[in-house]
Amino acid sequence: MPKVFLTRRYKFSAAHRLHSETLSEEENRRVYGKCNNPAGHGHNYCLEVTVTGPVDPETGMCSDVEELDRVVKESVIEKLDHKHLNFEVEEFDGRVPTGENIVQVVWEILSKSLPHLYQLRLQETRDNFFEYRG
Ligand code: NI
Repeated sequence: MPKVFLTRRYKFSAAHRLHSETLSEEENRRVYGKCNNPAGHGHNYCLEVTVTGPVDPETGMCSDVEELDRVVKESVIEKLDHKHLNFEVEEFDGRVPTGENIVQVVWEILSKSLPHLYQLRLQETRDNFFEYRG
């Protein structure tokens, strides 16, 4: 059966500070620049979730979009939206909330409920995005 890739786009806003506990204050400032600002800063993130599967000949669809929306909203968006990732999201205890790590945390969460998860794309700024395929 033909396999199709379906992508849905979600939004959340979150604050973070790029700061590694294993680096000195000076090294943190050098590595992360202004993103190391102690008060943190925020982004309006766009998360694209791609699932894949055979097209059901009866429905003509490869994925249950309502179920996808429910899983992403309940397990990811509610967890991250309007949070300070360093202080309010346990997955970032001891893990710097960079785009690289955020997209991996989201994968860890979603792959438990979405067996046909194919790719995540996390857009952090206009010019900056992260892709992960597990
Ligand atoms: Ni940032």
